[in-house]
Amino acid sequence: MSANAPITSTDAWAALVNHGGDMRTVNMRDCFAQDPGRFDRMSHVVGELLIDCSKHLATDETFKALLNVAEAAGVTELRDRMFAGDPINTSEDRAVLHTALRNRSERSVIVNGHDVMPNVRAVLDRMRAFCNDVHSGTWRGHTGERITDVVNIGIGGSDLGPVMVVEALRPWRRADIRTHFISNVDPANLRDVLVDLDPERTLFIVASKTFGTLETLTNARAARAWLLASMDDSQAVAKHFVAVSTNADRVGAFGIDPANMFEFWDWVGGRYSLWSAIGLSIALSVGFEHFEALLEGGFEMDEHFRTAPPPENVPLLLGMLDVWYRNIMGLQTIAVLPYDDHLHAFCAYLQQAMMESNGKHVDRHGNDIKLDTSPILWGQPGTNGQHAFHQMLHQGTTVVPCDLLLAIESHTDMHDQHLDLVANCLAQSEAFMNGRTADEIRDGLRDRGKDEADIEHVTRHMVMQGNRPSTTMLYPKLTPHMLGMLIALYEHRIFTAAAVWGIDAFDQWGVELGKVLAMSIRPLLDADTIASGHDASTLGLIEHVRTHRP
Ligand code: F6P
Repeated sequence: MSANAPITSTDAWAALVNHGGDMRTVNMRDCFAQDPGRFDRMSHVVGELLIDCSKHLATDETFKALLNVAEAAGVTELRDRMFAGDPINTSEDRAVLHTALRNRSERSVIVNGHDVMPNVRAVLDRMRAFCNDVHSGTWRGHTGERITDVVNIGIGGSDLGPVMVVEALRPWRRADIRTHFISNVDPANLRDVLVDLDPERTLFIVASKTFGTLETLTNARAARAWLLASMDDSQAVAKHFVAVSTNADRVGAFGIDPANMFEFWDWVGGRYSLWSAIGLSIALSVGFEHFEALLEGGFEMDEHFRTAPPPENVPLLLGMLDVWYRNIMGLQTIAVLPYDDHLHAFCAYLQQAMMESNGKHVDRHGNDIKLDTSPILWGQPGTNGQHAFHQMLHQGTTVVPCDLLLAIESHTDMHDQHLDLVANCLAQSEAFMNGRTADEIRDGLRDRGKDEADIEHVTRHMVMQGNRPSTTMLYPKLTPHMLGMLIALYEHRIFTAAAVWGIDAFDQWGVELGKVLAMSIRPLLDADTIASGHDASTLGLIEHVRTHRP
């Protein structure tokens, strides 16, 4: 295939489409009945993580056809170029090296002729030292008080990753530090966080790759005003504000001493940045050693993705299943259902990771993509979701492939109750796959002594078609290391599907227009008269706000 040719022009794609036609009548129940080795063959182990891919609408032939497509798309070549520091973010002409941030080997990583690893390690050393200073009380607030509250001000990738990890690692949180997050430009977010805080004990981390994001700078200015309203001494800013950014000039212009800035680099995409100094709030919350354990977990998955042969390469297989369902089976969404309450922010994090990366309509060369791209990702923790939207997952007319994530061991000592969670998770995956036939329902109702009229009245309502795909991921316990593995698994899965679609998964031009329009609308909300410049609906809405605002 030539470098510019879309995947749809390859024989491998044509074969996959053809095979998709054959698979429309295949039922997973039959597959399991005919093939006792299906689970063993289609489940994979990476370190302590078991990934069961056997409950998919796929046969051995499907996986072969998908791997042929991956080969035709050059997924592993692109992967190797990413790890090698080639500028595979073509629209921004940048390398893509979040993997260097968690490179725990001695290998160098070369960008533009320079090894980036010494700088990566130097920033990690500074983060470690800073965490030690804050935790030991060496770093204190302007009035000499110890820091007890850390507030991360950032949005998108400068917020969602840290929020998700701090929530997920709740059992590792230090007792002496509370961590808070302000992201939304809605002042309610700022007010709700600051209302309980003591300025003398509060440290703000202004986290922004560009240090030009309106929401973050607006909130950071408001936080600085809040601090100075209490201390009335501009020197206080130096002890209560640090920055994480790639842009030292803007950090300085904001009034934060660049000595208090933790650096990262343009080859770290925002939504891939929790591994960088953007993770400072994580390290302050759970301790630097646990932040390092998270990096180790990411590295373990990187090594698997980098070296495992494609038939055993789990991120690659999951990415190819995303292509299978999106393009061949025509399914629009996927649901992530962690049976792990501490992962309640995982879905929001993955929404940015997947949809900001792969929600694109042109390929790396600017050509229209003739295939549907990113699925819509949604979900929430089980068992809560079971009492909300699982009805639709089981009996709705739209099939949604689901990921079920489950820790075998609880962080509590309530091991029996935890087994209720385990049973529910396993039951859902079985129910998705098996469903329940009319005959099974009738037999069950007869066993319960129901009369035939009642049985006929309700049977069709109770039928569950089954044959609904899911991946189950089992791990011993949600440790920092395991969380790192899980995050990196999703990152590489997203990468794989992007490689097939030909997408640059590391730019996000689609967010720009809204920012520009917001800048042009904002002054109109204060203006005496509105002239034009917007469509009639938008002008009407602006006028309504103007006449009703306080
Ligand atoms: O929403 C667009 C975006 O650029 C994201 O990609 C990014 O994570 C977020 O804004 C925040 O950007 P920054 O870290 O530069 O403030």
